[in-house]
Amino acid sequence: MLTAHDVVVGYPGAGPVLTGASLTLAPGRRVALLGANGSGKTTLLQCLAGALRPTSGAVALDGEPLAHTRAGLRAHRRRVQLVLQDPDDQLFSADVTQDVSFGPLNLGLDEAAARARTREALDLLGIAHLAGRPTHQLSYGERKRVTLAGAVAMRPDVLLLDEPTAGLDPAGVAELLAALAGLGAGMVIATHDVDLALAWADEVAVVVGGRVAQGPPGLLGDQVLLESARLRRPWTLELAARLGVGGTPRDLDEVVALIAEGARA
Ligand SMILES: Nc1ncnc2c1ncn2[C@@H]1O[C@H](COP(=O)(O)OP(=O)(O)O)[C@@H](O)[C@H]1O
Ligand SMILES: [Mg+2]
Repeated sequence: MLTAHDVVVGYPGAGPVLTGASLTLAPGRRVALLGANGSGKTTLLQCLAGALRPTSGAVALDGEPLAHTRAGLRAHRRRVQLVLQDPDDQLFSADVTQDVSFGPLNLGLDEAAARARTREALDLLGIAHLAGRPTHQLSYGERKRVTLAGAVAMRPDVLLLDEPTAGLDPAGVAELLAALAGLGAGMVIATHDVDLALAWADEVAVVVGGRVAQGPPGLLGDQVLLESARLRRPWTLELAARLGVGGTPRDLDEVVALIAEGARA
């Protein structure tokens, strides 16, 4: 269980960004972290990852507060992996295998064990064929998957993914979601895609005014919350509301089922 409790963060010159943000990720759960551009999603992920130390408040893993010491951060990163929005901020090795095996080698695994972890991660993300490729030759979507493989190779309990679908084409998004579905880790995905959040997440967490409203995906039907967060209603909920069929359909199939049910009634 990973938690942020009453986290406060401000940047010099930018004023307060998070003013008491709390978030809970239970083991194996999928939380979509939503909010307008500049609302503080990335900032909160960085706090959860231990990459940024909040002014006040606490991040804890299984109830143990995160210690911002070398040992504390090292222990945290073994279990909690952050994947940055821009793969070019994360990739630094010449080729894919080197890059993905960097983390496992750094954990102290021997060459063979690190290679095995790397192969496993590349397989899980459907990019085994990229193993020997220079990273600079890859497409944006491929580079994004390589950075994700690097995190997966650490076999973390928690994956924190900053805008993992941004910049991907529709097929790329579908492939990424399919790959994520095969992982057992708890996940927080920061996104401003409300449709994706509703379809994918077990819970949503909406950043608004420096704080977080967390709850079931049906929270995305709350017009007042959405407006204050500068988000729109997911299309499935909009359509259901316009047709007067009610419910919280999460994808096309669920909308169609609700409409069919309405027609039978
Ligand atoms: N390193 C930084 N220095 C100064 N201001 C920053 C820095 N990082 C983020 N900010 C500001 O903090 C606010 C929240 O940023 P961010 O967490 O990146 O939001 P989001 O990911 O929701 O778009 C924005 O106003 C942004 O300009
Ligand atoms: Mg961001």
